[in-house]
Amino acid sequence: MREGHFLKPGVFVMLLLILASRGIFAVPQTLLPSVGESIYRAGNLSAALPLTGLRAGGASVVGVAAACVNCHRRSGLGTAEGSTVIPPITGKYLYRPDVGHLEDMDLLYAQGRISLRRESYDDLSLARSIREGLGRDGRRLGPLMPRYALDDAAMASLIAYLKTLSNAPVPGVSDDTLHFATIITPDADPLARRGMIDVLERFFEDKNQFIRGGRRVMQDHRTVAFRVTRRWQLHVWELKGPPESWQAQLHSRLAAEPVFAVISGLGGRTWEPVHRFCEQDAIPCLFPNVDLPVVAERDFYPVYFSRGVHLEADLIAAAITGKERAQRVLQIFREDDIGAAAAQSLAIAVNKAGLVSLSRPVKAASAKDELLRILQEAGPDDVLVFWLRRDDLLALPGAAPTARQVYISGLMDDFAETSLPAAWRPLVRMSYPVDLPKQRQFRTTFPHGWFRIRHIPVVADRVQSDTYLACGILAEALTDMLDIFERDFLVERIEDMVSRRVLSGYYPRLGLAPGQRFASKGGYMVHFADAGGADLVADGEWITP
Ligand code: HEC
Repeated sequence: MREGHFLKPGVFVMLLLILASRGIFAVPQTLLPSVGESIYRAGNLSAALPLTGLRAGGASVVGVAAACVNCHRRSGLGTAEGSTVIPPITGKYLYRPDVGHLEDMDLLYAQGRISLRRESYDDLSLARSIREGLGRDGRRLGPLMPRYALDDAAMASLIAYLKTLSNAPVPGVSDDTLHFATIITPDADPLARRGMIDVLERFFEDKNQFIRGGRRVMQDHRTVAFRVTRRWQLHVWELKGPPESWQAQLHSRLAAEPVFAVISGLGGRTWEPVHRFCEQDAIPCLFPNVDLPVVAERDFYPVYFSRGVHLEADLIAAAITGKERAQRVLQIFREDDIGAAAAQSLAIAVNKAGLVSLSRPVKAASAKDELLRILQEAGPDDVLVFWLRRDDLLALPGAAPTARQVYISGLMDDFAETSLPAAWRPLVRMSYPVDLPKQRQFRTTFPHGWFRIRHIPVVADRVQSDTYLACGILAEALTDMLDIFERDFLVERIEDMVSRRVLSGYYPRLGLAPGQRFASKGGYMVHFADAGGADLVADGEWITP
């Protein structure tokens, strides 16, 4: 039989999943079994007792490394990497009877991999497969799948958990429409807000236009057609009032307009309540435009482009502690802005290296006098770090400060080369957690061309480019998913495909290994080419701190 070359192995597994998901066999909804879940997700039998699996050669895997989630993924829908196929192990899939609808798909790809023509598991044969590594047809399972000597109670709980995987109704998906929300906090920049909404609305329009053009069909010598023709509908959730009230607002929006996922979005000083909402309600929140994301990589649903100002703090810390021995680090920030959190991050890092960090919050409405006072405090061996936005930077005095070095946050100044007085520039280094303008040009030509054709004014370049990138990633992941609309599976598809993306906008490369929630992990430190000019030059290579 011919080997498949028009379908990637990933797509092949998806095909299998379609069959499983079209199952006519309802699996009774079980209560969440806690032992089963912790075996599956954490590799624990109990708080004190790690799970142990036995590899084919006799070696054992223990604890987190033995957890089913590592291979079969959180959704239980498995994955495919090269020639390795990790099958789905949801109850729906394992307990479905012999499929046999050969006309549904091209079974060429199943030959020698996963046979669909076999008996369904029952609780006994499933337990045997987990304990002894024997498939339902008595075939020995491949060497990657460990064997687990679970007692009957733990096994029952595990099997009950498998039956719950990817088996709940998913809101926001109807026969003809996929609903998405985007979330905007009240303190978001109004210009960037307009720019982001423009991109989202046009992208959704394009998407729906494309669908009207006809069904998308994949063809081989037999035609296999997938129903990927759902419209995309955007719901713009604009939050009001103080952050303490946002979670309640989000819950009522969600109840009124159920959505499958949250795409992009725009934040200001805090994103914490939105992050919490996404995680608690198990909604993928994909790549919002926020420079102070929540760093909680054990959470699953919120995914970001980068750690934002936390990443900048690490870049600056590496620069300060890596070379010159400064006496003190004076950090200047607005108490009520994202720079306060960044300064805290940096203080911890430089303290670890034995340096003293002093916080100098700017409070006044007019910062000029306060900035002058803080500058007078600095000595020639001190390092100054400005976590300030453009308006504050423009209030700096023209004369260069007495300091060994001055650092500024590129994100907060939006990489504006011209905010600083010329006399300062020889002293200044900027953290730059995106690719350099010249190097990213070829990747941003595409969105820029699209903005032009769709008559979208470019008012906030990074936000708009990132929004376009987020939409592109979502579209690609959904295509990969075919008809399986499971939220966990969406996040997993993104984890798997994002690193293969060539058009990655502002970022030189993206990657989201399972458990990683920040797709771009490094940045540059840059300085001004010369005092008069505004050209930025990298100090060195891309750094992943
Ligand atoms: C290191 C990766 C890995 C881990 C960890 C792992 N599996 Fe597997 N599992 C596999 C692979 C690969 C296969 C496919 C083997 C084959 O078909 O030859 C498989 C197959 C299976 C099958 C058979 C599916 C079928 O269609 O016949 C079941 C059931 C299963 N695993 C359950 C589990 C459970 C439950 C856990 C956790 C207790 C687990 N696996 C942990 C890799 C893994």
